[in-house]
Amino acid sequence: MPTIPWDKKFATEIPLIDSQHKHFLLKANLFYAKCKIHPASTELEADLSLLEQLFLSHCLNEEGFQKESHYPYFHHHLASHDRLRASMREIGHFLRKASFSDQAVQELYDFLSSPFIDHLLFEDIKFARYWKEKASL
Ligand SMILES: [Fe+2]
Ligand SMILES: [Fe+2]
Repeated sequence: MPTIPWDKKFATEIPLIDSQHKHFLLKANLFYAKCKIHPASTELEADLSLLEQLFLSHCLNEEGFQKESHYPYFHHHLASHDRLRASMREIGHFLRKASFSDQAVQELYDFLSSPFIDHLLFEDIKFARYWKEKASL
């Protein structure tokens, strides 16, 4: 069963951001596994809502850090978050409509393994580099 484990190459070394990324990935992996094993579970709706909330609040936290530190690529990062939020909305809609079917869960997995992880590796790490440089001035 494929899952997306935490990897140290994802680390931004900003403790709140890393703990939110780790927590979100852990919850997403558990949700993925539960959909596969118990697609009729009545807990899936609440699990998905929690996952969506974690995702949205994480994006807002990160945007807060960026505004606070006058990050020069804030608007670029915000646009990337907007695309991720739109994908999460569509996937959530599809998961509910398709009653957490294999095909819908696969969409979530594809989102996590590429757009989400790519954002983390390129955009979040890029911001973290700026944050650390600023902190060391
Ligand atoms: Fe981000
Ligand atoms: Fe992030």
